This record gives sequence, structure tokens and C-alpha cells, in this order.
Amino acid sequence: MNISNLLNKEHFSKEELVQLLSCEGDEKTKIFEKAAEVKAKYVGKKVYFRGLIEMSNLCRKNCLYCGIRAGNTNVHRYDLTDEEVVEAAKFAWENRYGSIAIQTGEVNTTDFVERIENLLDKINQATNHELGITLSLGEQTEETYRRWFNKGAIRYLLRIEASNRELYAKLHPNDKHHDFDARVECLKNLRKVGYQVGTGVMIGLPFQTLEHLAEDLLWMQEIDVDMVGMGPYIEHPDTPLFQHKDTLLPINERFNLALKMTALLRIIMKDINIAAPTALQAIDPLGREKAIKVGANVVMPNITPGAYRNDYKLYENKPCIDDAADDCKNCLEARIQLTGDEIGYGEQGNSKHFCQRIANM
Ligand code: 5AD
Ligand code: SF4
Ligand code: FES
Repeated sequence: MNISNLLNKEHFSKEELVQLLSCEGDEKTKIFEKAAEVKAKYVGKKVYFRGLIEMSNLCRKNCLYCGIRAGNTNVHRYDLTDEEVVEAAKFAWENRYGSIAIQTGEVNTTDFVERIENLLDKINQATNHELGITLSLGEQTEETYRRWFNKGAIRYLLRIEASNRELYAKLHPNDKHHDFDARVECLKNLRKVGYQVGTGVMIGLPFQTLEHLAEDLLWMQEIDVDMVGMGPYIEHPDTPLFQHKDTLLPINERFNLALKMTALLRIIMKDINIAAPTALQAIDPLGREKAIKVGANVVMPNITPGAYRNDYKLYENKPCIDDAADDCKNCLEARIQLTGDEIGYGEQGNSKHFCQRIANM
């Protein structure tokens, strides 16, 4: 089938998605145009901010690709104080970002669970309960998810990283802390508790094929996520997966694939929120803008206090490391203007998909 006809279909098979992921040139342009059209029609031309607070790089896990894995002793570990987190949240609120996202490695001690509960109270008090709070704090029990939800967190991000379980197994140690089914269970629990649920995958991983990526798209549709953040895999020298670096696609092709994935996801999941991942900008200075043009509608300006940004290095070449929160704000404002979209200042920018599914319940 030719690409224009294919793009008008309502549902796509794995084979069709593989075909679409292989497109280049004029055919690829058609995919990008279709994605832009779907975005304008279903979510509009607004981009929403999530002020990103990288609260701590402490992590109990050992994902084979990640620069802050527990086994990497070359990392300077840090943990922001509650005051620092609240300050950052206040910055987001005063600058009308609408939302924040708090990210850490995975810690699941009772102290940590309680600390987050109290922190949510402090943030909400300091910001008049007006910020939409997203958490990205890894795998936790259903009860923990519920406790945080009850304190006002409304969204949770937990990337599946790779939806094919064999591929997942190659990217993680073979132990009970890195269990594919447990991670899927977490996503189900998050949905049950009532969060807007976000997931995502890495693109251009060792061992990964176009079939895997097509499966990822169908899997995200199947579990009916409300938001997605996905970006290119960028190898980190202090990780076990680095040994496969010679088998990887060239970095610009990983970038290209990530844009096609973003566009196709927008086409198959019309009303979800899709983040333009920072990892894109690590490869191309205009990476996030390009993602916004082909379907992304969320960006996450880094508002972590400057002194810590260099230590939250999941991958190499991470952008904005030397910048202050104000710099990212001005920089992004100029950048988003160039895409022709506008920033949804003062709005939480919740997932339309989520609002719809709640209304239908
Ligand atoms: N390249 C790209 N993304 C990475 N992440 C972790 N390590 C890497 C890497 N080397 C992503 C994972 C994780 C998120 C916090 O960062 O998808 O979920
Ligand atoms: Fe920890 Fe997340 Fe990195 Fe895995 S990807 S090692 S859970 S921070
Ligand atoms: Fe951080 Fe451009 S977004 S400096």
C-alpha cells in the first residue's frame, strides 16, 4: 500500500508500522505532516511545561544502560534537601510553568516514602496547590503510589524501556529487582490508583530491531497510556551496555528513528501527551523543536539547582548542565516560538486522553 493510503488507516498492524518506520525522504515527510495535522486537531498547538527537578541520583538498581546505576562508583551521589526542592517548585509556580516533575533514581525505603509524602505537602503549601505534580520515582508498591496520590501527585512516569520481554532481559540484570512483569504490574497499579500514567521506551538500543519498536508502539496503545516520554538511547562509558557500542546505529539515525517513533505514536494515540525528550537535544541542538513539530506537546525545562545538574547524568552530552533555571526558561521560550506553537503558561496541560477516559468511566 502506498504511504498516503496507509496513513489514512485507523489501525495499524506491526508489519505496517515496520514499513512506516523504514520510510525516508518524501515518505517520511508525509508521516511527519500527518502527525502535525493530528496534533493540531486533537491536542492543539500548545506546548506545556513540566519543570524538571532531578531530586536525587541515588538508585538501588543496576539497569545496564544507565549512568547512575548503583554499580557505577564514578558518580558523585547527591540528594537535594526538601528546601531546595520546594525552592525549585516555587520557581516553577512563580514563572507560571503549570506543572513540575520530580525525578529520582529508585529508592523504596519507608523513610523515602514518608519523605515524599511530606514533601508533597510542603510543595502544595508553598504553591497554593496550583501546580500539577508529576512523579517519576520508579517501581513502588500500590500502597505507596496511593499515599503519594492522596497527597496530590496527579501523574506518574514509569518507562517500560523496552516492551519486548526478551529485549528487556538483555538490558537489565537477571534478578528480582529488574523484573519485567513487576514493572508492568506497577503501571497497572498506577492506573488503578487514579494517576495519569506515563511510560516510554528507548530507541536505538543494542539488539533492538524495527519490529521491537513497532511492538513498543502497539504495546503503548494496548495499555492505553495517557502520556509518553521516549527518546534515543545514548551510550554511557561507565555502563555494561557500552561494550556493544560498535553494534549501534549511528547517532543521527537513532535520532531520526526517535522522531519517526514520536510522529507515529501521535498518529496512533491522537490525544495523549507526548514529551519532547531532552536526550534528543543531546544529539541535535534543535532536537526538541523537531519533536514538537512532529507531535510532541510537552517539554521539561530543567529547574534542578545548577550545582547538581552535572551529577544526574544518565547519558553523555546531557544539555543544560551549566545553565540556571532562568536560562532554560528564556531559551525554551525562544525555541518554542520558532516551532509556531505557543507555551501553555499557567495551565497544567493535563492529558486529554486521561480526561476523556475518566469522563467515560
Ligand atoms: N540513554 C538514554 N536514556 C537513558 N535513560 C537511562 N539511561 C539512558 C541512556 N543511556 C532513560 C531511561 C529512564 C530515564 C530516566 O532515562 O529511559 O527511564
Ligand atoms: Fe536507576 Fe532508573 Fe537508572 Fe535504572 S534507569 S539504574 S532505575 S535511575
Ligand atoms: Fe536549558 Fe536551553 S533549555 S538552556
